[in-house]
Amino acid sequence: MTDPVQRIAQLRRELNDHNHRYYVLNEPSISDREFDTLMHELEALEKAHPELDDPLSPTHRVGSDLGRGGFTQVAHIHPMLSLANTYSPDEVDQWLERTRTALMGEDVTIVGELKFDGTGISLIYEHGRLARAVTRGDGTRGDDVTANVKTIRSIPLELRGTGWPELFEIRGEIVMPWAEFERLNAERAFNEEPLFANPRNAAAGTLKTLSPAEVARRGLDACFYYLLGDNLPCATHYDNMQAARSWGFKVSSAMTRLHSVEEADAFIRRMDTERRSLPVATDGLVFKVDSLRQQLNLGFTAKSPRWAIAYKFAAERARTRLRFVSFDVGRMGTVTPVANLEPVLLSGTVVRRASLHNEDIMRQLDVHESDMLYVEKGGEIIPKIVDVDTSARVEGAAPVRFVSHCPACGAPLVRVEGEAAWVCPDKWGCEPQIVGRIEHFVGRRMMNIDGIGGETAAQLYAAGLVRGIADLYDLTEADLLRLDGFGPRSAQRVLDGVRASLSVPFERVVYALSIPNVGETTARKIARTAGSLDRLMAMSEAELTAIEDVGPRIAAGIVEYFAVPANREAVERLRAAGVCMEMPPSDSAAASDVLGGRSFVISGVFELHSRDEYKAMIESHGGRNVGSISKKTDFVLAGSNMGPAKLEKAQKLGIPVIGESEFLSMLQEGQ
Ligand code: IVH
Repeated sequence: MTDPVQRIAQLRRELNDHNHRYYVLNEPSISDREFDTLMHELEALEKAHPELDDPLSPTHRVGSDLGRGGFTQVAHIHPMLSLANTYSPDEVDQWLERTRTALMGEDVTIVGELKFDGTGISLIYEHGRLARAVTRGDGTRGDDVTANVKTIRSIPLELRGTGWPELFEIRGEIVMPWAEFERLNAERAFNEEPLFANPRNAAAGTLKTLSPAEVARRGLDACFYYLLGDNLPCATHYDNMQAARSWGFKVSSAMTRLHSVEEADAFIRRMDTERRSLPVATDGLVFKVDSLRQQLNLGFTAKSPRWAIAYKFAAERARTRLRFVSFDVGRMGTVTPVANLEPVLLSGTVVRRASLHNEDIMRQLDVHESDMLYVEKGGEIIPKIVDVDTSARVEGAAPVRFVSHCPACGAPLVRVEGEAAWVCPDKWGCEPQIVGRIEHFVGRRMMNIDGIGGETAAQLYAAGLVRGIADLYDLTEADLLRLDGFGPRSAQRVLDGVRASLSVPFERVVYALSIPNVGETTARKIARTAGSLDRLMAMSEAELTAIEDVGPRIAAGIVEYFAVPANREAVERLRAAGVCMEMPPSDSAAASDVLGGRSFVISGVFELHSRDEYKAMIESHGGRNVGSISKKTDFVLAGSNMGPAKLEKAQKLGIPVIGESEFLSMLQEGQ
């Protein structure tokens, strides 16, 4: 048997790692269920060996979303605890039996409800008005996100009806409906911004955005499930929630009173089907003791109420046959294996392709030709293969091998030491890499060349018109008119976009170049430190590593990039075309690209800065000033005395109207 001291230390280390991946990096590498299994093992070991307990053990903490800065932290009146989890209906039944025993055999009515998969929120109402909204944080203290929460339409700012206590707290979940999540991700994909992995991350990320105007645009919603306070109107949870509904809160109509194990089991079966057609994500059910008196008797453990339990649905998975494995080549040459499948329905969409991640994982899965595979959505946008049904393997089927040569250009692949990815080294002859770099270059957060997306980039390449980024600046109307689907208007749009890109600030030019491992933030930092492209090209690895966030790998990548004659030649052609090659002379430290090309209309009288100062700030932070409101305007920056006609027009077009402080926090967000 393993030594408990060692096993406990190992479990703590692993769980801390998984917590960090989940809460900080948003990149979980195991399922919730696997996480819970490890946590249960640690809990059991710590219980058996109380002498080995440690106040810093992961069993003693509830996950935190604190620490991103920018919000005031406030203490919760009642700590925000979590719920005990189970994955089996039997354990729900056992919990109900335990509860009955603890209540000396009294009759127990329980309430079954949906477990919404969003981010928890606590709202305080005083005299019928929303006083404060606080995130869960570490369970004891959270971030005051009142300004953002006020933008969520389904949350009442003033209560309706009667009977609410003068002071109470209501808890619920801020969620992003599926439709809104898909719209937002489509927009982000178009703008080449990182996608949200699931509606939960999208809701949590949005709630922590420092711009209420942006929050308002993202269509968040909220469902409520817990009322706390001294003078609640009713003696049961169910009735209190119905009262809350009458005050204007969204309370799920799935909430049902249940009186027996049989009714609880039937509820589980019914909801597992019904939840699939809901507009919001749910990850399980919650069962709660209905009577508040009984709840009080049962009380809490250190982490969760004894009067409630969460039943988690297993991640939805589908089983289908592998047709063949193909290999995608990305802009940086990374080769990803993709399983092409017999179409299968999974959580409402038809899945035809799923990721096999990389060679190591493909080998672990041991995929053979024509295998029956299990595919899961697991929160990610791209479904992934999680398992193989080896019992259904076709006799004599050969294992699928990772390619040794690039599927696009035939070059032998190389594997960087210490990394799982195989890479095609032929940066200059490999079509998907070249097209990928062109597509990246024209993207909204880079050179923002209107009228060109992935498809047009591929078309331009195939027609021989654009073989590298610099060729974009030689395009003529006649060239574009030769392309399928192009007419004078669309051609003009591209040419205007190319011309407008000459005023894109230097930081974005650096990002647009596709230097290995140089993302948006790194590009901004190196652009500001170097000041110009000439200087950047002349910097040594030692000088580069002195820049914040630039390690030896990034520094080597930069030096290597500018050592390639084709890259130097492209840079010279961009310079000749008039692309910005340096930071603006004045105030370069304060400038940024946080406004990312968004257009502003300024209106009214301001207190903190003058109109001209705001105009200059918009310019120097990568935004655009426009004279009048149209449907293309992104924001109206409004002072006092803004004309009513303008306000009405902005409202009619759904353009967010923001005040001075919101605007200034927007800039701060990017600093
Ligand atoms: S009750 C004292 N009910 O799940 C316990 N929580 O894992 C109060 N959640 O922190 C929570 N749906 O953010 C409750 N119907 C529901 C829920 C729910 C989602 C979330 C909530 C909680 C977490 C616990």
